Amino acid sequence: MKEKILAEFHSRFGENPVLYASAGRINLIGEHTDYNGGFVFPGAIDKVIMAAIAPNETDKVRVFSIDINEEAEFGLNEEDAPKQSWARYVFGVCREILKRGGIVKGFDAVFAGNVPLGAGLSSSAALESCFAFALNDLFNDNTIDKFELARIGQSTEHNYCGVNCGIMDQFASVMGQKGKLMRLDCRSMEFEYFPFDPEDYELVLVDSRVKHELADSPYNKRRESCERVAKRLGLETLRDATMQMLNSIRTDITAEDYFRAKFVIEEKDRVLAVCDALNAGDYETVGQKMYETHKGLSEDYEVSCEELDFLNDIAKECGVTGSRIMGGGFGGCTINLVKKDLAPEFVETVKTKFKEKYGHEPKVYPVVISDGAHKVEETVEEVN
Ligand code: GLA
Repeated sequence: MKEKILAEFHSRFGENPVLYASAGRINLIGEHTDYNGGFVFPGAIDKVIMAAIAPNETDKVRVFSIDINEEAEFGLNEEDAPKQSWARYVFGVCREILKRGGIVKGFDAVFAGNVPLGAGLSSSAALESCFAFALNDLFNDNTIDKFELARIGQSTEHNYCGVNCGIMDQFASVMGQKGKLMRLDCRSMEFEYFPFDPEDYELVLVDSRVKHELADSPYNKRRESCERVAKRLGLETLRDATMQMLNSIRTDITAEDYFRAKFVIEEKDRVLAVCDALNAGDYETVGQKMYETHKGLSEDYEVSCEELDFLNDIAKECGVTGSRIMGGGFGGCTINLVKKDLAPEFVETVKTKFKEKYGHEPKVYPVVISDGAHKVEETVEEVN
């Protein structure tokens, strides 16, 4: 990928660029909790968006996406927003840095990625984080702190891409570290790294290849339901809500809002239970909580689909320790905690059975927990 990006940059823009990369993410547990002030448990993965970037001494940005095979050119003022939806991620990051008093000048960029699109692995957060990290390095002497870079990505989603997402994806993409998951408290924003290297288990992603699309999606509606219930309870977020409180207003709210909030309250406790179980090396409990999350996401939060439920059923039949929808839902992947000696058989079975039913095999990705946003140093030396 590096060579391809550099070759393209040289032929389009000439100058010696600097290479940056940022990662997609997984999340062990804690779904739709981030925008409710709850806990999440993500990590960055070894699938990245990589960009070659160089300042161009103008007030224009020129970006070429290798994967889409399209170039966009735009200025840096609010009215200069590009039409192409992929370019709005880059434009949004520039604007959000400028709005915070940071510096962005004209630059040229070429990027590509191997984070599968629409698989729920946060290709968009990887793109935002890659450019936020790069522009901080190139124009701001790295004075914007890393957490703020994540917020810049999140604000880009809110203000330029129409998704009212939480902070999890951008946080994981920026802050991820090799071999470690992170538990983030999305209210206090405190977090800790959790080494994740279970000897007898591995994490396997099974991609239904049903494209998940969050923009203009029911995702924002889920968030609105949660906010309505929190408000009704006199709380800022559902973080402090209990089932008892929720049941006390059950007749005052819609059944839909009730079940959305129920899921969030239960999920918050599941993340804490998983932390304890991980500390105790109790992977059976971790797995059981993952199945509970799937059930909640499917029945109460209603962000599953037939294919994802089918993948979950097969995992259960195969004796997989834990399995659930990962990320926003509405398609994409399941994440599976599988005993190492069972993994090959599970992968075979899930491919065969899924193909029998839906006519195509799901994609399977092993999870390698990796570093988040970074400068790709060694390649720069190769270039020079
Ligand atoms: C998407 C959003 C995140 C989070 C997840 C669900 O990935 O971008 O902020 O809400 O869905 O956990």
